[in-house]
Amino acid sequence: MKDVAVKDAGRGVLQRIAGPVVTAVGLDAHMYDVVKVGEEELMGEVIRIEGDRIIIQVYEDTSGIRPGEPVVNTGLSLTVELGPGLLKSIYDGIQRPLAALVDKVGDFIERGVSAPGLDRTVTWEFRPTVRAGDTVGPGSVIGEVQETSIVHRVMVPPHVKGGVVKSIERGSFTVEEVVCTLEDGTELTMMQRWPVRVPRPVAEKMNPDIPLITGQRILDGLFPIAKGGTAAIPGPFGSGKTVTQQQLAKWSDAEVVVYIGCGERGNEMTEVLIEFPHLQDPKTGRPLMERTVLIANTSNMPVAAREASVYTGITIAEYFRDMGYDVSLMADSTSRWAEAMREISSRLEEMPGEEGYPAYLAARLSEFYERAGRVRCLNGMYGSISVIGAVSPPGGDFSEPVTQNTLRIVKVFWALDAKLSQRRHFPAINWLNSYSLYLDTLTGWYDEHVSPEWNHLRSWAMEVLQEEAELQEIVQLVGSDALPEEQQITIEVARMIREIFLQQNAYDDVDTFCDMTKQYDMMKAIKKYSDLAYAAQAAGILPQQIMSLKSKNDLPQIKFIRDYKPVLATMLSRMDEEFNALRAA
Ligand SMILES: Nc1ncnc2c1ncn2[C@@H]1O[C@H](COP(=O)(O)OP(=O)(O)OP(=O)(O)O)[C@@H](O)[C@H]1O
Ligand SMILES: [Mg+2]
Repeated sequence: MKDVAVKDAGRGVLQRIAGPVVTAVGLDAHMYDVVKVGEEELMGEVIRIEGDRIIIQVYEDTSGIRPGEPVVNTGLSLTVELGPGLLKSIYDGIQRPLAALVDKVGDFIERGVSAPGLDRTVTWEFRPTVRAGDTVGPGSVIGEVQETSIVHRVMVPPHVKGGVVKSIERGSFTVEEVVCTLEDGTELTMMQRWPVRVPRPVAEKMNPDIPLITGQRILDGLFPIAKGGTAAIPGPFGSGKTVTQQQLAKWSDAEVVVYIGCGERGNEMTEVLIEFPHLQDPKTGRPLMERTVLIANTSNMPVAAREASVYTGITIAEYFRDMGYDVSLMADSTSRWAEAMREISSRLEEMPGEEGYPAYLAARLSEFYERAGRVRCLNGMYGSISVIGAVSPPGGDFSEPVTQNTLRIVKVFWALDAKLSQRRHFPAINWLNSYSLYLDTLTGWYDEHVSPEWNHLRSWAMEVLQEEAELQEIVQLVGSDALPEEQQITIEVARMIREIFLQQNAYDDVDTFCDMTKQYDMMKAIKKYSDLAYAAQAAGILPQQIMSLKSKNDLPQIKFIRDYKPVLATMLSRMDEEFNALRAA
C-alpha cells in the first residue's frame, strides 16, 4: 500500500479501511477527537493512536471510500446537544434525529448527513428564574421552558464558572439565541454540549435508601431497586426482557425515561421504534414519549454508532438528573453493545479476551453503570439515574462473559427463566436466582412508608418459596400426598405466593400496576390464610378441607379489581368464618 502522508495541521489521508475501522496518517489528533472521513465527510472518532497512525471508528457505512481520501480533524470530541427538544426525540447512537424514519420504515439516514440533535428552527417560551444582579454558578437554573408535561430547567453548563447576571430575557427563543448574559460577558443559550464519554459532574453521591417503585410486585416486593440503583435483566430469547423494560419505562416513579433500544434482526426497524411511540403514559394518559428520549439502533446501523449509543443515552440522562429529576434509563440489550465492542476490537486486531470480547469489556460495563446514582447536583437539587440493562446471553447461558461481568457490577439481578415463560408464569423472573443488594438500605423506607410489618412479610414469603423448592425435590420422588400435612400446607401457601403475588399480567388494565399498599394488603392476606391454615392443621383438621375454602380460592381475583379494599375485607372476614366453621364441625 502506498503511503501518501500529507502533513497538514488537522488534516491527513486515509491509509487503510477495514469495515468501520479506518487508519489515517499525517493527522494531528488526540484520542476521541471527532474526524470527517473521506470525500463524503463520514463522521468518525479517534480510538487509538500508534505513532503516526491514527485509528478511527466510523459511524457510517464505509463502503466505497478509498485510501488517499482526506481525513479532517474537527478537534472536538463526540458530544451531545442538551436543551429543549430532547423529549419526544428518537435518535440514533450519535444523536441524529430519526423521527422522520418512523413513518418511513426501512429508510435510513444517508451517509454524511449531519442533522443537529436539537432543532434550530423551533422556538421555546423561556421564563427566567433569576434576575439581573443575581449570582449564578455551574449548574444553576436560570430559567424554565414547559417542554412537554415536563418543565425543562435551563442551566448554566457545568464547566462555566458563572458570575453576576447582567441581563436575562423572557419570551420565545431558539436554542441558539442568547437568553442570558453575565457581567463578565459570558453569553448563555438554552443549549449546552457535553462530551458523551465524560460523566457530568455532581456535588455528592447519596446513599441508595429510597426505592424506585415500579408497580411490579416481584420487583418491588422481593427484589427492589433503589432510586439511582443498577439492575440487570438477563434472559433467553422471548423470556420477557422487553416487556419488563417497557413496564419499567411506563410505571417506575421516575419523571424522565431514556430508552436505548438495539435491534436484533436484519434490516427491520427495532420493535422499540415501532412500539414505543404508541405507548401511553398511565400517569397522564398522554403518549409516554412526552417524557422519553428514545435512542434506537438497528442492526444495519454501523457498529460504531451502536457502541456510542449507551454513552449518548446516559449523558442525556445525566442532563435531566442535573435538573433535579429522577430518570430511569433502560438499555435493551447491553449484549448488543458488547457485541459492537467485540466487533471493533477484532477490527483493531486487539488480543481477544473471553469469547472474543475485548479485555476491557468489564471496565467499560462498570464505567457505564457507575454513571447511575442518586446525587446532590451542582445546583443543590437532588436527582437520580436508575440504570436497568437487559442482557441477552446466547442460548440463555448465564455463564457467558457479558452476563457474568454485568453481575459483578450491578446490585440487582432479575433472572428471567425460559421454563417459567414456557409455563406462562409472567413476569418470568426466577425468585430463587434473583437478588437485590439494596434490601438493607431500603428497609427503613419500607418501615416508614409501607408498614413496619412489610420487611417481615417479605422475608416470610422468601422463606416459604425456598422451602417449597426443597420440598419439590421430595414431591418429584414420592408425590405430594406422601408429605407430612404441615408441609402440604407449605406447598399450598407457596403456590398462592407464586400465583397471586408473583404472577402479574402486564396486559391487564388493573394488574399491570400494583402500588405498595396493594402489594402489602395482598401479601398480608396470604399470610393470614397461612397462619389460620397451620393453626387449623395443628388442631387436627385435614389439609384437603383447609385447602378447599372458598375465600382462599377467591383471593386471586383481587389482582384484577381496582377498588379492591372492600372486596378483600369481605373475603378476609369470610375466611375467618370458614375456619371457625371447620373447627366447630
Ligand atoms: N409481564 C408479562 N405479562 C404478560 N405477558 C408477558 C409478560 N412478560 C412477557 N410476556 C410474554 O412474553 C412474550 C415475549 O416477551 P419479550 O418480547 O419481552 O421477550 P424478550 O426477552 O425481549 O425477547 P427477545 O429475546 O426476542 O428480545 C411477550 O410477547 C408476552 O406475550
Ligand atoms: Mg426483546
